[in-house]
Amino acid sequence: MLILSPSILSADFTILGEQMKEVEAAGAEYLHVDVMDGIFVPSISFGMPVIASIRKASDLIFDVHLMIDRPERYIEEFAEGGADIITFHLEATDCPDQVIRSIHSLGKKAGMSIKPKTPVESILPYADRLDMLLIMSVEPGFGGQSYLPESTERICQARRLLDERGLNIDLQVDGGISTDNVHTVLGAGANVIVAGSAIFRGSISENIKAMQTAFAKFENE
Ligand code: DX5
Ligand code: ZN
Repeated sequence: MLILSPSILSADFTILGEQMKEVEAAGAEYLHVDVMDGIFVPSISFGMPVIASIRKASDLIFDVHLMIDRPERYIEEFAEGGADIITFHLEATDCPDQVIRSIHSLGKKAGMSIKPKTPVESILPYADRLDMLLIMSVEPGFGGQSYLPESTERICQARRLLDERGLNIDLQVDGGISTDNVHTVLGAGANVIVAGSAIFRGSISENIKAMQTAFAKFENE
């Protein structure tokens, strides 16, 4: 199944609640929530109080992408704040196994993300315990960047490595995706698509509809 995860990093925070409702009404499945700490990535976004507050206003699946150093410090707080899927960066921790265990022990789904320069095979020791793998298609830190073309081969490689091992986990891609290139990303083997600026710039519902149309076109080929 193909899933769209609109990233609220590109939302208008003065009307975030309304925009989330629009996302939900348009039929998106997930809400991608980018947490940045100014250490693992250069920028700072938002944290627990914001997530706990918007949780009350939405039934969407909260797909929380932690771009934070040593995520093991905060898993419990994000779980309690309303995350459904918690994705951390392999590069940000010395204890990935512990992080996966703690996400699962809190009843949440565990995702692992890698930056564009991290070899795809470095996820292999953990892959059988993951619910989702996130291949970043930009350097994490900012919305609105351009898709790195080398990502396509990395997605293909990830899809191959997972399939060879019979691992039926979600393969998410995040960064620079729009209706112009989503077909390529899906063709490479991704099934969960994050999009920030492509959804929140202009009409949210029309943008989501256009993305759903692209999904349907891909599926019917
Ligand atoms: C970047 C974030 C992305 C970002 C995507 O570090 O992880 O989720 O919001 O935004 P676009 O789709 O504009 O590249
Ligand atoms: Zn993200």
